[in-house]
Amino acid sequence: MNIKNEILRLKREKDVCIIAHSYQTGDILEIADFTGDSYALSVKAAQTKSKTILMCGVRFMAETAKILSPDKRVIIANADAGCPMAEQLTKEDVETLKAKYPGYAVACYINTSASLKTVCDICVTSSSAVKILGNYENDNIIFIPDRNLGSYIKEKLPDKNIILVNGCCPVHAAVTEDEAVAAKKAYPGCPLLVHPECVPDVLRHADFIGSTSEIMNYAVNSDSDAFIIGTELAISQHLQKALPEKKFYMLSERLVCPDMKLTALKNVYDALDGGGLEIVLDAETITKAAKCINEMIRLG
Ligand code: 13P
Ligand code: SF4
Repeated sequence: MNIKNEILRLKREKDVCIIAHSYQTGDILEIADFTGDSYALSVKAAQTKSKTILMCGVRFMAETAKILSPDKRVIIANADAGCPMAEQLTKEDVETLKAKYPGYAVACYINTSASLKTVCDICVTSSSAVKILGNYENDNIIFIPDRNLGSYIKEKLPDKNIILVNGCCPVHAAVTEDEAVAAKKAYPGCPLLVHPECVPDVLRHADFIGSTSEIMNYAVNSDSDAFIIGTELAISQHLQKALPEKKFYMLSERLVCPDMKLTALKNVYDALDGGGLEIVLDAETITKAAKCINEMIRLG
């Protein structure tokens, strides 16, 4: 059996829209209808006529797809794929923070569970965060869960009072300043492109800071012919394939997200064949989490 052809056949027969985050491997991107960053994927899937969405990515991304398409069936290809950062805080933690800082709004990164979004006021993506929170009426903000993205936003918005918590992406936060210095020395003149989930000591060596799609666009549009990539390995691999005349070096060998590597073509096939895990959220969770996301849309 040619698994790719079978996936394409089942997808067509069952009218399923497959979406894949850019951290997925190349073979998964090839069978997807849409690829990109987490929020953009869910928006695109919501706009299609397909009644079923199959997410190749991690759980919070599938939940976002469900929140934006409550009338569609949303399935995650591998039920074990989660983002550790999305579950670092509980709803009780957020309630405790609200009690400690009365009058502060709670802004969450899109990398949070649907349940956590229900107790937050506004949501942001890594690409929209500075603009959205800059436009936000409340100057007093508790930002959860990513301390590193939060401190990047805080630096860009000095007029806002931003309280940070201790969450982080274990993959990006593991990169050290020594690695950034060593990479710049090893590849002199190559722009260092870094995701804002990296620690501030790494970000200050970056030539460009942006989300996964912003990093990819930067590399496509730049005149440079070699780059150091400071985000997940797959981005460097996809760029190398798309732009063979340019060269992509990794900032750190450890920039590999194990959860993003859990989805294989076999999981996609099984999900189309009746497997996978359907994302089920109750109506109250969908309404409250959608309110949090809609605040981002209002300001974006
Ligand atoms: P983007 O929203 O930039 O795609 O990032 C998602 C993510 O998980 C980054 O680690
Ligand atoms: Fe979560 Fe980090 Fe993996 Fe992105 S790279 S999905 S933030 S653990």
